[in-house]
Amino acid sequence: MSEEFTVTPWEVKGFIDYDKLIKDFGTQPLTDEILERVRRLAGELHIHLRRRIFFSHRDFDWILDKYEAGEKFILYTGRGPSGHIHLGHLLPWFFTRWLQEKFNAKLIFQMTNDEKFLYRHDLSMDDALKFSYENSLDLIALGFEPERTVILIDTLASKTLYNIAIRIAKHVTTSTVKAIFGFEDSTNIGMMFFPAIQAAPCFIESVLQGRNIPCLIPAAIDQDPYWRMTRDVAPKVGFYKPAQVHCKFLPGLGVGGKMSSSMPETCIFTIDDPDEVYRKVMNAFTGGKPTREEQRRLGGNPEVCTVFHYEYYLFEDDDKRVKELELMCRSGQLLCGECKLELAAKIRLFLTEHQKRREDARNAIDKYLYID
Ligand code: TRP
Repeated sequence: MSEEFTVTPWEVKGFIDYDKLIKDFGTQPLTDEILERVRRLAGELHIHLRRRIFFSHRDFDWILDKYEAGEKFILYTGRGPSGHIHLGHLLPWFFTRWLQEKFNAKLIFQMTNDEKFLYRHDLSMDDALKFSYENSLDLIALGFEPERTVILIDTLASKTLYNIAIRIAKHVTTSTVKAIFGFEDSTNIGMMFFPAIQAAPCFIESVLQGRNIPCLIPAAIDQDPYWRMTRDVAPKVGFYKPAQVHCKFLPGLGVGGKMSSSMPETCIFTIDDPDEVYRKVMNAFTGGKPTREEQRRLGGNPEVCTVFHYEYYLFEDDDKRVKELELMCRSGQLLCGECKLELAAKIRLFLTEHQKRREDARNAIDKYLYID
């Protein structure tokens, strides 16, 4: 599609051309060869690799070289805690969980309550801290292991982060952050410094262990500007460049664009009432025809259908069933109503179970937090 789109750490909109992003950002596509290596090492391929939801990378092959040579890597990802978690936020976390399990990797997870406080006019420090805890429950509910998972809430881990961040900040000029992040003279100085805080967790493990440890960042591609800056500085301060593997955005249930908290009707939050979800799914934008008769005759279009996207991105593991849904839709055998019901039931089940695990996580959170 030729429409305009925007992808920055603060704004994602439009119909995104991911191939163009690879070119614009200067990343590499995930090749079949890399996927084969992952399959060999992990014993299987996660659906987000098979379906190229994770589609781009920097140095992922190098991470695998190191791993094969016996050098383990750490995983690093994070979240800007400005509200409740929706399915779009969970997307990269599922894959991160899989990586942790298959590669026996420690995860460092950063909650940037400082960033969200600095960036948002309407968010107090208390709110950002509250959401840091709330969002941590969602992370823990996905099954990350307490022995190998550390959650850093920035203002509670400030001593460790600051000591690393200043080493990075010394090598980043104002004109560099202006060029990378589009900052202007009117940008507050907290935001100007913040990229050094987001870079710091890449090196925490190396600092704590006193030797270089490779770091792989699984995250949506909008965070890439941070890693461009970090990779530039890393060798200057004696660390490995962090590697990345980038995912696409989960579409919202409306027309175009990613799932976004600012459009709650098109967005499924983990704390939504599981029954409410039926309503949201029933109102979703599909690739169906206006009438039943036309749909039977002409078939639907799964490519633009949000219901199909949800099956593809998250809810249907079985590749055969995905293919079947696609063919049945195209041939007019499957009507949108039935398809929506199938998805709504899956989401409902997921939410019900997730919410139980999320409540249990309240008692476990202390085992994950790193406080200095
Ligand atoms: N800046 C990110 C956001 O607003 C949060 C974040 C911090 C992050 N460290 C990260 C995201 C590492 C991905 C990977 O959501």
